[in-house]
Amino acid sequence: ARRIWLTRHGESIYNQKALIGGDSSLSPNGAAYAEVLPEVILSRLPKSADGTPVPVSVWTSTLQRTIQTAAALPFAKLRWKALDEIDAGICDGMTYAQIAEKHPAEYEARKKDKLRYRYPRGESYLDMIARLEPVISEMEREGESIVIVGHQAVLRVIFGYLMAQHQAVLRVIFGYLMAQPQAAIPSIHIPLHTVIELTPRPDGTMGVEYIPVP
Ligand code: G3H
Repeated sequence: ARRIWLTRHGESIYNQKALIGGDSSLSPNGAAYAEVLPEVILSRLPKSADGTPVPVSVWTSTLQRTIQTAAALPFAKLRWKALDEIDAGICDGMTYAQIAEKHPAEYEARKKDKLRYRYPRGESYLDMIARLEPVISEMEREGESIVIVGHQAVLRVIFGYLMAQHQAVLRVIFGYLMAQPQAAIPSIHIPLHTVIELTPRPDGTMGVEYIPVP
């Protein structure tokens, strides 16, 4: 069966300084994550019936921290500009505390409606949902297993989309009434140094497993 693995890039220099955006390299902790990632994925590879290795592709953004995290994975790689992190516009390179101090109205507006809030000269989560559409349709078209090395906001959108689909299936089966799934996207927790393994099942449901990497 096919797998989709989602992971954030390893810890970056900006992560260590609590700065958002930018294009920094991995910290030593992040580099250690990149080093063990191949073992984690290889240990999870589904077996094909005849014992031949199953094809896997690796998708990254165009930013250094995802490219460096994926570097040791022994599979074909594809860089997507559409997988780049949310553009924080005038707030790029700041901490949340600095944003609150220098742009208090922006900070409050984002807190009120994180889904729709667009950073001045940057993006909103709704913008990201639109920009990730081609990535998501390619992901669904693609039959092979994929490792997506992404960013927090990007993976919230992709994971949120896949979970909403899964819930749509549950809704059909059980008649559940689900809350508006889009609104939940900006607060989905996507931890660092964790591989999220998704297993699409024939009945349309999705297995989800969090694999923390020490
Ligand atoms: O650097 C950007 C963050 O990964 C996005 O997180 O949307 O919660 O501010 P946020």
